[in-house]
Amino acid sequence: LRSTYLDRIAAAGDETALEQVRLSALGKKGEISGLMKELGRMTPEERQTRGAALNRLRDEVDAALRARREGLENAALDQRLKSEWLDVTLPGRPRPRGTIHPVSQVTEEVTAIFADMGFAVAEGPQIESDWYNFDALNIPPEHPARQEHDTFFMHRDPGDDRPPHVLRTHTSPVQIRAMQATGAPIRVIAPGRVYRMDMDQTHTPMFHQVEGLAIDRNISMAQLKWTLEEFCRAFFEVPSVELRFRASHFPFTEPSAEVDIRCSWEGGTLKIGEGNSWLEILGSGMVHPKVLKAGGIDPEQWQGFAFGMGIDRIAMLKYGIPDLRAFFESDLRWLRHYGFAA
Ligand code: PHE
Repeated sequence: LRSTYLDRIAAAGDETALEQVRLSALGKKGEISGLMKELGRMTPEERQTRGAALNRLRDEVDAALRARREGLENAALDQRLKSEWLDVTLPGRPRPRGTIHPVSQVTEEVTAIFADMGFAVAEGPQIESDWYNFDALNIPPEHPARQEHDTFFMHRDPGDDRPPHVLRTHTSPVQIRAMQATGAPIRVIAPGRVYRMDMDQTHTPMFHQVEGLAIDRNISMAQLKWTLEEFCRAFFEVPSVELRFRASHFPFTEPSAEVDIRCSWEGGTLKIGEGNSWLEILGSGMVHPKVLKAGGIDPEQWQGFAFGMGIDRIAMLKYGIPDLRAFFESDLRWLRHYGFAA
């Protein structure tokens, strides 16, 4: 009996097989357990000799089981260590790293500066209805400003009775959407893509603008001026800027002003904040009463200022980039040259 079990223990190839051997010997219905139960029916003399021998047998089998279990566990561990081995000294595989596009970087800078001044971010669709893009902004169908916008019109099949849509030509329609969404007071900027049929060194058919809109009980042109000066100082990272407000005309603001920034062009390099040249950077004005009405705001109670700025344009000025088209050509050499890619 003893050698049978010792042999079977030695032959058990894994822990499941070993457990089977243990049950058949020492389990409740095991052979050795059975023999030990019989001791009760023996005479005291028989019990003394048989009992001692059985105890020894049980202890021996038990010890062999434990030793074998430990051996199997160690073997399993060795196997795992061998198969899951990792060479932590191998050099890493280099992976190309992406970077944020310059226009996105500049948009984030602009958003952060206006956020500090309490402006939230508003958004609107790039495929915009004719009404939001023009009519609500005081540009009725026959208005000459419509021609100046070089608009992309969305195609409509005959019988399509949806209202006409365009690719938005500016971010100004978001003014109307913001007014409708929250009512007055409002302090938002709206950065985003806009589209015009135009292509040369400083124009691409898709470009980016950021709209600003502040509406409250006593908003004035002075606050517009301060807001824009603060922004330019922070954005161009100069101690002071000088802005020139040139009377202009936009249908959706009255009065309207185009804003120039003082700069110099020495030896072909642009310096913002000093010099004797002026560079146009944005359009602005006091929100026209008709525009407030279109947005559901009472012009007797509220006034506001608005401005619109080309994001790509101010990015070109800040980083000294001569050709706007390069922004959208995804040329890694160009991006690296201006420090926009690793
Ligand atoms: N929407 C105008 C443009 O695209 C800019 C502008 C915005 C002017 C807000 C005045 C007020 O040229």
